[in-house]
Amino acid sequence: MIKKGLLILLGFVLPSVTLFAADCVSYTKKGNQVIFNCRDGSKLSLTINSSSVVKVWFDRAGKFVRTNKSFAVVNERLEEVGEINVNEEPACYELFTAKLRIRVNKSPMQLQIFDKWQKLIFSDFKDKGHISDSGTVKAYKILRSDEQFFGLGEKTGPLNRRGRSYKMWNSDRPCYSVTEDPLAKSIPFFMSSYRYGIFLDNTYKTEFKFGTESDEYYSFEAAGGAFVYYFVFGKDYKDIMEQYISLTGKPIMPPKWALGFAQCRGLYTKESQALEIAAEFRKRRIPCDIIYQDIGWTQNLQDFEWRKGNYTDPKGMLRKLKQQGFKMIVSQDPVISRRNTVQWEEAEKSGYFVKDARTGKSYDMPWPWGGNCGVVDFTKPEVADWWGKYQQKPIDDGISGFWTDMGEPAWSNEEDVDRLHMKHHIGMHGEIHNVYGLTWDKVVKEQFEKRNPNRRIFQMTRSAYAGLQRYTFGWTNDSGNGNDVLQGWGQLENQVAVGISAGLGGIPFWTTDISGYCGDITDYQAMSELYTRWMQFGVFCPLSRAHHEGDNAVEPWRFGEVAEKNSKAAIELKYQLFPYLYTYSRKAHDTGLPITRGLFMEYPDDAEAVKINDQFLFGEEMLVAPVLKKGERVKKLYLPEGEWIDFNDKKTVYLGGQMIAYRAPLSTIPVFVKKGSVIPMMPVMQYIGEKKDYPLFVHIFPAYEDESASFELYEDDGEDLGYLRGVYSLTKVTCTTLANGYETAITPADKDFRQSENRSIVLKYHLDKSPSQVTIGNKTVKNVGEEAIAADLEGDRSSAGWSWNDVTKECWVKLPDERKHVNISIR
Ligand code: NOJ
Repeated sequence: MIKKGLLILLGFVLPSVTLFAADCVSYTKKGNQVIFNCRDGSKLSLTINSSSVVKVWFDRAGKFVRTNKSFAVVNERLEEVGEINVNEEPACYELFTAKLRIRVNKSPMQLQIFDKWQKLIFSDFKDKGHISDSGTVKAYKILRSDEQFFGLGEKTGPLNRRGRSYKMWNSDRPCYSVTEDPLAKSIPFFMSSYRYGIFLDNTYKTEFKFGTESDEYYSFEAAGGAFVYYFVFGKDYKDIMEQYISLTGKPIMPPKWALGFAQCRGLYTKESQALEIAAEFRKRRIPCDIIYQDIGWTQNLQDFEWRKGNYTDPKGMLRKLKQQGFKMIVSQDPVISRRNTVQWEEAEKSGYFVKDARTGKSYDMPWPWGGNCGVVDFTKPEVADWWGKYQQKPIDDGISGFWTDMGEPAWSNEEDVDRLHMKHHIGMHGEIHNVYGLTWDKVVKEQFEKRNPNRRIFQMTRSAYAGLQRYTFGWTNDSGNGNDVLQGWGQLENQVAVGISAGLGGIPFWTTDISGYCGDITDYQAMSELYTRWMQFGVFCPLSRAHHEGDNAVEPWRFGEVAEKNSKAAIELKYQLFPYLYTYSRKAHDTGLPITRGLFMEYPDDAEAVKINDQFLFGEEMLVAPVLKKGERVKKLYLPEGEWIDFNDKKTVYLGGQMIAYRAPLSTIPVFVKKGSVIPMMPVMQYIGEKKDYPLFVHIFPAYEDESASFELYEDDGEDLGYLRGVYSLTKVTCTTLANGYETAITPADKDFRQSENRSIVLKYHLDKSPSQVTIGNKTVKNVGEEAIAADLEGDRSSAGWSWNDVTKECWVKLPDERKHVNISIR
């Protein structure tokens, strides 16, 4: 055992090594920043960003220099905190905020954070709070026996990260396994059940070990760069998450159609095929909004020209698609192929490629297709406009957005050590690797907005870093089972947690590749069950895209009639839920809260709920427990506290706080709605904007007596940026349950926007027995019967009436949406 004293001595010989914290001897203060100085020259800086957020920066050399400013954090002044006072006690220094007591012990230096009731929230582990070893800095923090961790963005494995370790190094891992790590995105943000989050804002390779080395501590570390992390205290996970979003920026608001169904395939690269597929969707009346084109659409990497021979009249194709209500999204890769001599030389001459530090020349990057390439250096400011002009060409032809693929950049995984010689305009690859995709996404978004004013960007990316939500949506990349496509069940199950976790990384808008990306499909009948179940889960991903490698067709009609019928029903349900999903999309834009949420997030005190990895809440009101096992027809699932109503028949009630067995034949997705909820829906449409004056169906699942159920519906133009200027409308529906009936108030607020000048609202109450009287305002309305209401919903938008169906137990109240406050009484 080496003695401390000896190690201090060694510290002078090997200044980059500190294996334990030195004594803290003084502090200096500037505004909201306090720097604690240690005897060995290391320093710890604490910046108070708000009463609950502290930026921690440990610097072994005590210089606090960083080569680049944060790529993720856009707002550090979260709150005016005023003058920070430091109290010096014999053994420690203490700082107070309205919510925290922050203590820095002197000997050895140890950071500890308590809440205002003196409960220890977060603490350095003994003298190992921040130690460094030749460039790597590692932070050891105490681990409580019951502490749980959630987050890190798109990662495999159970949602509770405890007992596992993870790495951040954006990796191209086709057909990744259910335990694979790292994957394509680096989002070094996690939350603890002790009500704090840590965002390690470091773009180098970072590692997180949640108790894999000891039961007493966990750790996070970075292989280089400034060791900066943000401590975020919150009243619950949602509060912590919202503060992380305040630091790193709001997610972009999707255009409405982005939330429709999307179809893709690796070899979707032809005009005739796109038109045929689109026509087939309409013929079969399966709703669909987006046809993707994969990378082969483009003539050369990456000239944004339509491949000759495959596309003869791209503008005409896009016009025809538009007439049928389709949008087209095309792929882009971040490289220029050497074979594409004109563009390659253009970029080379201008110095737009990442360099090879050994030769000073453009780095010669092997690429999975198109031969060797130059890697476009998006960190160089001049590249933005150059790229923007290129990408604008297909936009001018009529495409609606991009799918940014391979931004790790591909084939620069950990084992590809040669890539570490890449020199980007603003730094070496070791620092830039994890943000390479992010810098690309930023250019794509900013250039799109510059050249297409007042239009919402659609961009979906594979690889990025924390903060990506400001520029792009995400998909969970090449999942599946490469060896045997029929063995994809494990990956399907894994995708549920990967997607929930993506949401925790600030990616509310994400999709899995429905069908699993990998594996050749030779027996479609044998694959039909897996496809159906993947689809039934996939329609609850906020973006829903079916995609598969190569020319493996994964359109809903390929898997036989039953799979088609069930897939169509699932997709139709997605469309019917659009008003609900769109409202949550706006909430996600405002707060960053995921739309698909792990049960732990809504029910953190429910010991069973926090263990669930394969179910999720869709918004706050609905719970989805997709069937994820082959042959499973009775699904065992967990319902948290409260009463839950089967969303399939909208009447069977289950008591929560227990596992239940639920009948789920191939046609059924187990979906439940919480008692006391209001769910806005719309009729099935073939694409999101098909009809403007559709009737708004408001399903009401009344609360207990003297309690209310309510929902505030959000609507806007769906394509433009008016929502940023406050152009939208809200419709609040509140239903209060009385001893003898229900009082419902509809309160609209149109802020320069109205979805329809002329539509009906149909309140659909789910009740036990028929009411005897319905009044709207002060007028008693007639029971006209359900058939009469249903018969002419779109034609007759001015009459009012009600109905009762004794089989479905639904009471419908139809009324014109006059955008005025109105009360509806049911007795
Ligand atoms: C890799 C992507 O992850 C995949 O979705 C795509 O089909 C291929 N690149 C081809 O572009």
